[in-house]
Amino acid sequence: MKLGILVGGRSGEHEVSVMSAKSVFEAVDKNKYDPVLIGISKEGCWYLIEDPESVFSRGFVGPDAGLPVTIIPQPQGQPFVALDGSHVPGLDVVFPVLHGTFGEDGTVQGLMDLAGIPYVGAGVMASAVGMDKIMMKRLFRYAGLPVVKDVSLTRRFSRESREEALKYIEEHIPYPCFVKPANLGSSVGISRADSREELDRALDEAARYDFKIIVEQGVPAREIECSVLGNDAPECSIPGEIIPGRDFYDYEAKYKDDNSKLLIPAPLTEEQVRQVQDLAVRAFRAIDCAGLARVDFFVTKDTGKIYVNEINTMPGFTTISMYPKLWEASGLPYDQLISRLIDLALEKHQEKSENETTYS
Ligand SMILES: Nc1ncnc2c1ncn2[C@@H]1O[C@H](COP(=O)(O)OP(=O)(O)O)[C@@H](O)[C@H]1O
Ligand SMILES: [Mg+2]
Repeated sequence: MKLGILVGGRSGEHEVSVMSAKSVFEAVDKNKYDPVLIGISKEGCWYLIEDPESVFSRGFVGPDAGLPVTIIPQPQGQPFVALDGSHVPGLDVVFPVLHGTFGEDGTVQGLMDLAGIPYVGAGVMASAVGMDKIMMKRLFRYAGLPVVKDVSLTRRFSRESREEALKYIEEHIPYPCFVKPANLGSSVGISRADSREELDRALDEAARYDFKIIVEQGVPAREIECSVLGNDAPECSIPGEIIPGRDFYDYEAKYKDDNSKLLIPAPLTEEQVRQVQDLAVRAFRAIDCAGLARVDFFVTKDTGKIYVNEINTMPGFTTISMYPKLWEASGLPYDQLISRLIDLALEKHQEKSENETTYS
């Protein structure tokens, strides 16, 4: 089976995607799958990568990464084509190992749907909702899941009426608060604000990455994460805990310094484990997710109250990332996890293709 692995992308998490895709490419069961690496540059150009090692060692997909290719958005024939007309392999299934914008947000998923290609993970809607922290929290609230208080505002309002914006936020959210671009991940553009001055700066920082901004009440909490796998009958791993090596779990703490620790399993009571797992599956269902997701929680340090922080529909996927490590600790090794995800992708595609698209 030809497995297309999408890597890179027009996203602040481009480099993270390269690390994840390297692990998938190396670990995938070569007896079952023939992996084909397709790189997307930071500019959004697609390439068939002839020398995966060069991309992995450089850490990004450059404009000289390989043969320029594209996917034609129609389900007949071979949707994967080279721009110069040369022959490229057909793809049976795609694993979009893309994090963040233009990859984890439903855009690439829409292209695959149009082209009729089965793909790993969430569909268009769950991907889009999972990326948008404002919409995500609305659905979580609707499903009765506990989330921390927030307000949202547009970049335009925050720029053109800064005084008003600051007052509006302060009226609803006490300090410290967390200011985030609505659509992103890996903590890019996120800052903590302890004062009006910091809030002012944090709004500018978040506005660099999105035209929608969310401001949340900060909670002093432990960070617990849970891996979910499945389509209609999602299963949940044992929970893990992140101990950030810095002030909070920012980009540096996630990828640059070695001081952050993962605790697997997370030291929680049986009752807390049960609650976290139940909430993880409910969060997965709340956004109609498929394939995989990592659901992240805050467990407050004082009272142990549990909040759902977010759902990640394409979580970090290196061999040392939390998502696969939690499955490994739950009895499912990395290579088998990839096979399971591909089976789930095919199952979902089969299910979708049963829908009639004509009416007579
Ligand atoms: N409301 C909050 N209270 C306390 N810490 C927070 C809050 N929101 C975010 N953080 C910190 O910032 C990190 C990144 O925020 P998160 O919303 O998970 O964004 P991302 O999607 O980029 O991972 C969290 O892991 C946590 O350390
Ligand atoms: Mg997070």
